[in-house]
Amino acid sequence: MKDRLFIFDTTLRDGEQSPGAAMTWRLKLEVARQLARMKVDIIEAGFPVISQGDFDAVYSLASELKGVTIAGLARCVDKDIEAAGRAIKPAGDHGRIHIFLATSKIHRDFKLGKSQDEILRLAVKGVEYGKSLAQDIEFSPEDASRTEPEFLIDICNAVIEAGATTVNIPDTVGYAMPDEFGALIARLARDVEGFRTGKAIISVHCHDDLGLAVANSLAAVKAGARQVECTVNGLGERAGNAAMEEIVMAIRTRPDFYGNVDCGVNAKEIVRSSKIVARASGFTVQRNKAIVGKNAFAHASGIHQDGVLKNRDTYEIMNPEYVGWGETELSLTKHSGRAAVNARLKALGFRLNDEEVSAVFNQFKEIGDKKKYIYDEDLIALTGGLLGNGTYSWDLVNIQYLGGNRLVPTATISLKKNGTLEKGEPRVTTFLDADTGDGPVDAVFQTIKRITDRQDATLVEFNIRSTSQGQDAVGEVTVRLTFGDPSYQVVGRGASTDIIEASARAFISAINRQILIESGSHSA
Ligand code: KIV
Ligand code: ZN
Repeated sequence: MKDRLFIFDTTLRDGEQSPGAAMTWRLKLEVARQLARMKVDIIEAGFPVISQGDFDAVYSLASELKGVTIAGLARCVDKDIEAAGRAIKPAGDHGRIHIFLATSKIHRDFKLGKSQDEILRLAVKGVEYGKSLAQDIEFSPEDASRTEPEFLIDICNAVIEAGATTVNIPDTVGYAMPDEFGALIARLARDVEGFRTGKAIISVHCHDDLGLAVANSLAAVKAGARQVECTVNGLGERAGNAAMEEIVMAIRTRPDFYGNVDCGVNAKEIVRSSKIVARASGFTVQRNKAIVGKNAFAHASGIHQDGVLKNRDTYEIMNPEYVGWGETELSLTKHSGRAAVNARLKALGFRLNDEEVSAVFNQFKEIGDKKKYIYDEDLIALTGGLLGNGTYSWDLVNIQYLGGNRLVPTATISLKKNGTLEKGEPRVTTFLDADTGDGPVDAVFQTIKRITDRQDATLVEFNIRSTSQGQDAVGEVTVRLTFGDPSYQVVGRGASTDIIEASARAFISAINRQILIESGSHSA
């Protein structure tokens, strides 16, 4: 019998808290479906009290997803706990309220202005209230790794007594060292009665400020933690959270070290999950990232290549196919029909409605005329800019641009606006305009700003990469825009064989997201 390690995925909560990673509801749904397909145990879907969008996201995922626990986060105050309780209700026995309250001296003195006794009392009261709304209660003493261990033991005992079935020990600011963190978990496993008797399990939640989130999480598993909180690609606040794929593959690759411990994750879905999260969040994965980076299994040196050809085990400690590499091969050509494109999108993990399939298919056809083969990577890139556009979204119809060292860069663009109402009937309106800029991309952006009347859009980041191989590869552009508030960035993506067109599509997709955010609707 395996000793079960629960994987608690917080990509949609802590991951989404990463500045600039905010996802539209439609993209969150794709990520959540993929997490469920990968068989994580718990999905933390959001923080229901902070916005209607977060509440709706948790509520809808709790209604739709089966076979996975849906958690909603709450501060240790009644209104948060009540909102989380309502949001997870459709999940029934598979709903969890996750309550947190800071316990370290620095947080008690400077953030909360409360004594140890007050914190203890509030924690118990919060857990008791949560327990009246749901059976599955998790409590997190925030900044636990910097909390006095004796007080932490008291807190753990008290919240378990009040009904918490999981107690999560966060290294909130990524301060702990692996040996030290492992020793803390071992001490809690030994000195907290509820952990000893199995009344509650120990969870950990590590941040990567010193690059130690995964090492600390694994040290905790070795010491007795049986839930790890993590995110796909290590997305998360500041330097991020522990990377799910690294934790799963460490325990799978080293059973000699971790003994009987295993989790339920279907590792074949890891690479797919990484790609979907990268697209949804706008955070590209670095090439040399463990497990999911493009170079993770690439052997460049002659000596390594020779060794791998003779016996893979010489330089490969894992089989790349085991985590889903090599699955995404050449797929389609311009002759492929709508059904084939949709089937491929499904195989890649997307569940699109008819309108969305049509949007992807239309762009697929345009690209198919210019490019011989369309690879899975290209198809995924196409979905990046098209999903998550609201009803009142803008679409590119035509684009022309002029450039050169003796010409004033000029763009002429036609855009259509969906969803405008005329006499109560929805209709599509088309607009045409032209403008100049410092270069062709700038001219395109200025023209789009004029047409959409978004002079407040400011470009803060522009990235371009090719999604597949060959001279006719699809270029994928990612832009980050701000709209007045410099601390809030909106990501847009676009793809095309023409990089200026890809830039236009990325800019339009960011504007569409901003319109959605302003309308307060993440549920479009
Ligand atoms: O980092 C942290 O402490 C958290 C808690 C809410 C668990 O994210
Ligand atoms: Zn966190």
